[in-house]
Amino acid sequence: MARILVVSNRVAPLSEGQAPTGGLAVGVLGALKEVGGIWMGWNGEIARESGTPLAQQDSGAISLITWPLSQYDYDTFYRGFANSVLWPVFHFRTDLLHYRDEDYEGYKRVNRIFAERLQRMARPGDLIWVHDYHFLPLAQYCRELGMQHKFGLFLHIPFPSDQVFRTIPHHADLARAMAAFDLIGLQTSDDLQAMRDYYERHLGAACSHDTLVLNGKATRLGVYPIGVCPEDIQALSREHRNSRESIKLKSGLQHRRLIISVDRLDYSKGLVERFRGFERLLDTRPRFRGQVSFVQIAPPSRADVHGYRSLRRLLEQTAGRINGRWTELSWTPIRYMNRSFDRATLMSFFRASQVGLVTSLRDGMNLVAKEYVAAQPEDDPGVLVLSEFTGAARELSEGALLINPYDTAGMARALRSALDMQSAERRRRHEIMMDVLRKNSLTAWRERFIEDLGGI
Ligand code: G6P
Repeated sequence: MARILVVSNRVAPLSEGQAPTGGLAVGVLGALKEVGGIWMGWNGEIARESGTPLAQQDSGAISLITWPLSQYDYDTFYRGFANSVLWPVFHFRTDLLHYRDEDYEGYKRVNRIFAERLQRMARPGDLIWVHDYHFLPLAQYCRELGMQHKFGLFLHIPFPSDQVFRTIPHHADLARAMAAFDLIGLQTSDDLQAMRDYYERHLGAACSHDTLVLNGKATRLGVYPIGVCPEDIQALSREHRNSRESIKLKSGLQHRRLIISVDRLDYSKGLVERFRGFERLLDTRPRFRGQVSFVQIAPPSRADVHGYRSLRRLLEQTAGRINGRWTELSWTPIRYMNRSFDRATLMSFFRASQVGLVTSLRDGMNLVAKEYVAAQPEDDPGVLVLSEFTGAARELSEGALLINPYDTAGMARALRSALDMQSAERRRRHEIMMDVLRKNSLTAWRERFIEDLGGI
């Protein structure tokens, strides 16, 4: 079997107990644990001196090869082009686009550095699996260095409509470079359609259902919804249901019902809309006052990128205002925490809750939604209330209560239905969703992508 060489900007910590940041790290780590491989990426640190050597860490069949970014590369590549241009635009937030030529130059520079390191690491026959928006031109630069490997890109985030994509300065350059990949995987058929539209309309590519041909070079396109390992999550949530943290949570609730949300503190997640939805529930259904607690776990993310600091302030104000309005001596409606918990603890929290609430305004997949479902006890499962603008909604529409996060009253109605839902109905919905999770598991995601890449 071919060796898999994975490249992503963020890599997951290999030590148990440390919380990985975001769905990409969780997904790639789970997939690599099964088959092994080399995973290259940023170690999350900023180097004081240039020329810091690569560090290698081995755990089972995974070798992690990481290095720091220089301050300049961090500012231009990560904070700049990747997170102030690509992330907002791919999440349809052109109002937050901040473009600078030097950031784009830095983005390309870091991609070239990664290409050189990849060239040194790769052996003939390796399959190269690149992840996410940080590395759109990487295959192009590797080809320029003479690499003849098969290159696959999986985009964890949505692909925007062509009108929105065209707001990126130099979008055509970027898109031409992306076509150097042999396979591009997307989360949903909407993303694939949007990508195809752009290439056809603006670059004159010849597109069929699953292939685009640009200047004589073919790139396969495919939909590969990322999944979870439902059995592992079930076991984890069961084993930790009486962990110290879980008992603390339950004793703090004092038998009240629990709505829970877990997200990176990001403007794409619809956090303010969610707080307002919960407030509307308390406003319009007095019987829930004092009876339901909402726990929001939101570890800070990209705090030095434009838009994130003001979001944090707005959330603090909104939570403060709602709590100021409704808190009683023995009940606080919203518990808002800017910290992370390890995975086992989160799964036990999901298991202890009656409702999981996901309100993203745009989200490639949202693995939290899938984890929430998998962590539920089969005999008494909680209900998933899920934004229709997540990739997960494409798969879980029959089991979850779908909402439009911009519709505050609709969100409050869905929360009420979830809290009132009878056990038989909850079990029925849960079973439907578990079937989907088992079918579209993390293993299936990895196998299908690697098989298709290898088969090209
Ligand atoms: C999302 C992205 C990932 C990213 C993660 C965490 O899941 O798709 O590429 O790694 O967020 O963001 P960060 O900027 O901390 O890596």
